[in-house]
Amino acid sequence: MTESLTVRDNRTGQEYDVPITDGSIKAADIGKIKADEETPGLAVYDPGFVNTASCRSAVTYIDGEKGILEYRGYPIEQLAEKSNFLEVSYLLIHGALPTKAEYEAWVHEITYHTFVHENVKTFMQGFRYDAHPMGMLMASTGALSTFYPDARNISDPDNRHMQIVRMIAKMPTLGAWSFRHAQGKPYIYPDNDLSYTANFLSMLFKMSESKFEADERLVKALDILFILHADHEQNCSTNAVRSVGSSQVDPYSAVSAGIGALYGPLHGGANEAVLRMLRRIGTKENIPAFIEGVKNGNEKLMGFGHRVYKNHDPRATIIKKACDDVFEVTGVNPLLEIAKELEKIALEDEYFISRKLYPNVDFYSGLIYEAFQFPPEMFTVLFAIGRTPGWLAQWLELVQDKEQKIARPKQIYTGERRLDFTPASERWA
Ligand code: CMC
Repeated sequence: MTESLTVRDNRTGQEYDVPITDGSIKAADIGKIKADEETPGLAVYDPGFVNTASCRSAVTYIDGEKGILEYRGYPIEQLAEKSNFLEVSYLLIHGALPTKAEYEAWVHEITYHTFVHENVKTFMQGFRYDAHPMGMLMASTGALSTFYPDARNISDPDNRHMQIVRMIAKMPTLGAWSFRHAQGKPYIYPDNDLSYTANFLSMLFKMSESKFEADERLVKALDILFILHADHEQNCSTNAVRSVGSSQVDPYSAVSAGIGALYGPLHGGANEAVLRMLRRIGTKENIPAFIEGVKNGNEKLMGFGHRVYKNHDPRATIIKKACDDVFEVTGVNPLLEIAKELEKIALEDEYFISRKLYPNVDFYSGLIYEAFQFPPEMFTVLFAIGRTPGWLAQWLELVQDKEQKIARPKQIYTGERRLDFTPASERWA
């Protein structure tokens, strides 16, 4: 039996049967409900798409109540522990784990596309000395579309594959150069003998040594952070990639729009706020007074709470463990002790328990990034590098989805109508 919803329009007394599929109804079916033939059909008002499914997707599954995050069906905990970022990227893009031969070919392809055209370097050098690295990353990613004009040929699978490889490969190069630029240091070329993440660290931190070899524990921790950020279904930046991509523009332009969305403080900036908060608290003794302030509504406990996760954020648990590994190498950041104590006190407090507020991915990630000596402006760049395969997997799904159309939401018009225009010469006379 097909499930349906019976809707009675009290304006007309007419009843409608609206089919329910996959726990949702089609907005187009609601549009058939009309007060009369002249009036437009009923629309759904949903600012921020809080309860609107914009696509069908087989990339990422989230169950916020149970704290579950899966990429292509695989739990994030297992991927973080047993896989690596390039294998996870393959999984997101292709929908299945690679065979040995597929994996080796994939790593080879990505490794040999890490270099960018020399002119990219020249225009990046043209940014102001204090340019925000995220602005540089957004601009340089968008600019790649001019270096690969064939990328607009989005209906050709081989062509799509080529651009996906290029983008995953080049993002660390662009990100690292944005970082070096702000420091006034020379840009470092990729070292293709190194793994994806080790090469990124080399491009960030290499100075006069002939080879930069990062501590393996740091490489592993950063690789895990990339995995944790690789996709999160229809979040703001992914929605931006899909929305812009729906115009059939090339993927560099679509991903550049995603980077723009991620740049915003409501999306990519909370971990920086956590660090500021921990610094302000200063010592463990100040925690109870801080918690009281939060409960009195004076401020928020940054890094706590999530729109989707109402039990725990599975990424937070993994990051907390990665913290210990990183601090083993770099020495403990004194803020970690405050963070752990804060978490302990908050998790036992009725205010946080009753509101289902738990640490989210940002509670510990800023501490790790700081241990790597990244300035806060770089945090979102790291997020963008990790999120690139997710954006591309979602873009790929979009361009092959026959049901998708150019994104074009409706509006509820609230302005004036049918005003008479008087020319300026008369109005100002
Ligand atoms: N500290 C104190 N109280 C909080 C917090 C917090 N961090 N988060 C929510 N609350 C309270 C909120 O005041 C409200 O209380 P009441 O019912 O008494 O009015 C209740 O909990 C429900 O909150 P909400 O605002 O309805 O929850 P939301 O789903 O709209 O907001 C959130 C989710 C993430 C925006 C919010 O929890 C928040 O601002 N957290 C701090 C910022 C942060 O850590 N952001 C990173 C999110 S993870 C990023 C990612 O996934 O990429």
